[in-house]
Amino acid sequence: MAKSENITWQTTKINKQDRRKRFGHKSAVLWFTGLSGSGKSTIAVEVEKQLFDRHINSYVLDGDNIRFGLNSNLGFSAEDRAENIRRIGEVSKLFADAGLFTLTAFISPYRADRDKVREILGDGEFIEVFVDTPLEVCEKRDVKHLYEKARRGEIKGFTGIDAPYEAPEEPELTIDTSAQSLEASAKQIIDYLASHDYIS
Ligand code: PPS
Repeated sequence: MAKSENITWQTTKINKQDRRKRFGHKSAVLWFTGLSGSGKSTIAVEVEKQLFDRHINSYVLDGDNIRFGLNSNLGFSAEDRAENIRRIGEVSKLFADAGLFTLTAFISPYRADRDKVREILGDGEFIEVFVDTPLEVCEKRDVKHLYEKARRGEIKGFTGIDAPYEAPEEPELTIDTSAQSLEASAKQIIDYLASHDYIS
């Protein structure tokens, strides 16, 4: 893809620190990664509600939802997934600049794609949350019947079946939804944010 030429970065009169001061909290990205059906969206939605209840400005970006609009021109090849994650990384960076907590729920199966997002964000702004639910559990849940279709060969390149998932090596948080409740998972994340001074 060609880069635009003759462009200049436009600065504004209000910066990220001004917004954080006004909102009374830091901004960061909680990047949920894990297999389809692992519980990424469910946990992200619960944490967003708990942050909202604490008057913390937050917003969920969800894989399925984003593919209806912003990323509706992307499929599930490795290249398209990389572009999907790159765009979401850029949107998350803008949201962090706007002073928000972003909670992203994307499979984001490739380590390199996730690491690139970590690199474009500021120090401590990328919090990787590995939703480490085993494939057998995700497949048993199969809420959307996608594993069933993938096993029958009706979906090609399905993560965990015939497309790879590269687990994070040093995530800030690891959650196994087969071993703990939604409440416990949300609490684990809120406790992390509080103990690392993101929220008070
Ligand atoms: S990725 O890999 O990060 O670009 O994927 P993402 O944008 O999160 O989209 C994942 C959701 O798309 C549905 N779906 C598939 N998932 C994996 N592999 C294939 N081939 C596929 N085709 C469709 C599926 O509903 C995923 O939703 P979740 O919420 O993860 O179950």
